[in-house]
Amino acid sequence: MGVNLKHSGKEGMALAEVKGFTLWFTGLSGAGKSTLAGMVAENLRQQGRRVEVLDGDEVRQNLSQGLGFSRADRDANIQRIGYVAKLLSRNGVVAITAAISPYRDTREHVRAQIPDFVEVYVHCPLEVCAARDVKGLYQKAMAGEIGQFTGVSDPYEEPLAPEVVVATHRETPTESLAKIMDKLYNLGYVSAP
Ligand code: ADX
Repeated sequence: MGVNLKHSGKEGMALAEVKGFTLWFTGLSGAGKSTLAGMVAENLRQQGRRVEVLDGDEVRQNLSQGLGFSRADRDANIQRIGYVAKLLSRNGVVAITAAISPYRDTREHVRAQIPDFVEVYVHCPLEVCAARDVKGLYQKAMAGEIGQFTGVSDPYEEPLAPEVVVATHRETPTESLAKIMDKLYNLGYVSAP
C-alpha cells in the first residue's frame, strides 16, 4: 500500500516534496552551468530531495561517448540527456542538466517531452567566458585549433522565454542560486526557497 497523499493532511507540502522535475541549464561553455547545477543539487539534497546531475562533460564520457560537435551529434546528445531526465523526473527525482544545448529547436523538443520542465539560461557574454577560459578551449578555438566551437565558430541560440535567466558576469554564484531557488519555490516545485 502506498502513501495516500490526499489524506495526508499536508497535501501541498507532500506533493512539493515528491514531485520530480527537470531543471535544464543552457549557456556557453564556461558560463557557469556546472557550478550552478552543483549548487542547486546540494541545496535540494539538503532539503531531502533526490537529485541527479547530468553534466555535459560527464555525459559525453558515458552516455554520449563517440559523439562530436556537429549539429546532428549535439542534437543526439541533447535528446539522450532529455530522455534520461524525463525518466528520472517522472519518478520523483530532480534531474538537473548542464549541457550547452545550443539549439533552440532541440531544447523546445525536449521541453515538449517533459511535463515538468524549467529552463535556466546561464547568460554570460562570450568575451567573459573566453577570458575565464577555465578549460583553455577558447584560446584553441580562437586560434582555429578546435573547429565548430560554440560562440566562436558555431552558433548559440539564446532561449526566448526561459523560466529563469541568470547573468554570471554580474551576479555572484550565491545570487544566481537564489534566483533559481526562488523560481522553483514560486512554481511549487520546492517547499522552501
Ligand atoms: S552540447 O552542444 O552537446 O550541449 P556539451 O555541453 O555536451 O555540448 O559539451 C560541451 C563541452 O565540450 C564544452 O564545455 C567543452 O568543454 C567541450 N567542447 C569540446 N569541443 C567543443 C566544441 N566544438 N564546442 C563546444 N564545446 C566543446
